[in-house]
Amino acid sequence: MADRNSHGTMTKDNHAALWHGRFSEGPDAAAVEFETSIRVDERMALDDIQGSKAHAAMLCRQKIISEKENSEIQKGLASIEEDLKSGSLAVDYSAEDIHSFIEATLTDRIGESGRKLHTGRSRNDQIALDERLYLRRVIPELQRQLASLIKTLASIASEHRFSLLTGYTHMQRAQPGTLAQHLCSWAWMLVRDYKRLTDSLGRIGLSPLGSGALAGSDLPLDREYVAELLGFDGVTENSLDSVADRDYCIEFVSDFSLIQMHLSRMCEEIVYWSSSEFGFVELSEKWSTGSSIMPQKKNPDFAELIRGRTGRVYGDLINLLTMMKALPMSYDRDMQEDKAPLFDALDCVQGNIIVFEAMISSA
Ligand code: ARG
Repeated sequence: MADRNSHGTMTKDNHAALWHGRFSEGPDAAAVEFETSIRVDERMALDDIQGSKAHAAMLCRQKIISEKENSEIQKGLASIEEDLKSGSLAVDYSAEDIHSFIEATLTDRIGESGRKLHTGRSRNDQIALDERLYLRRVIPELQRQLASLIKTLASIASEHRFSLLTGYTHMQRAQPGTLAQHLCSWAWMLVRDYKRLTDSLGRIGLSPLGSGALAGSDLPLDREYVAELLGFDGVTENSLDSVADRDYCIEFVSDFSLIQMHLSRMCEEIVYWSSSEFGFVELSEKWSTGSSIMPQKKNPDFAELIRGRTGRVYGDLINLLTMMKALPMSYDRDMQEDKAPLFDALDCVQGNIIVFEAMISSA
């Protein structure tokens, strides 16, 4: 199929699937709709562009593409980045995934040089790279939110060093304690969560790019240079493992599950502390709800919702573990299903941390 790109030159249809070359028939619309992941993976657009810029710079340094082609690719990618940020470029949801969309848009904008970006690269190593870049970008943000909640708990604790609180074991009155110690016990759980995220980040410090579809490339790629440009500590060692590995998704969702379990325990205490039987805490009106027919009630809905979303995050973890179970080496399309649970668990935990902090600050 031929069309006219933005430069007016005739090209093959840039938006045809990347693998379309050997096929004479286009895919059925229902098939495209079924297999696309773009609504889920579009959030990695900027990471995909960052990876592509580094890959093109390396191809040029290795004289695999020319200076002119590289400069067109760099400018094209920068313009796509700018337009995505400003909202003037809309994502095409009929594309197979975010990688295909960006490459097709690039080829629309700069012509044939756009196609050269795929040289020495497969979407199999590209997705493994994008996920790592994305996690390296967003996990520090999650850690900042956790740190802020830890500080808030510590600061409320410092005001309550002498506020007595019943201490329980087996939910039976045990020994007297202070609210400060109790709040700090919550904070320490979160400190461990923070450190666990740092440990997990340490394990995605190597760049998988250059692993190709599964067996690398016979082009003289400089994997170390790409890794250096992207701020990685080095490169992964085994190309099969590099495209087949999703341990990091499972590991981060386990980290999120622990955070969520801790939040759920904290919320459980807020729920019973706020009952008239206990009366240990009074939630602000902003962070509680009422009942029209039982006006005496002030319900701790937000704590309950955070507690209730724990099932979602654990479910995401089981989803990932099950999806990866028994997959043969190396990449299998099943693995495209990794992003929905990864992002869902991340969003859920992130939202819960923010709401818990607001709720506890105003109690
Ligand atoms: N969207 C795909 C994913 O997330 C990218 C890799 C596709 N590779 C392939 N061989 N079809 O897994």
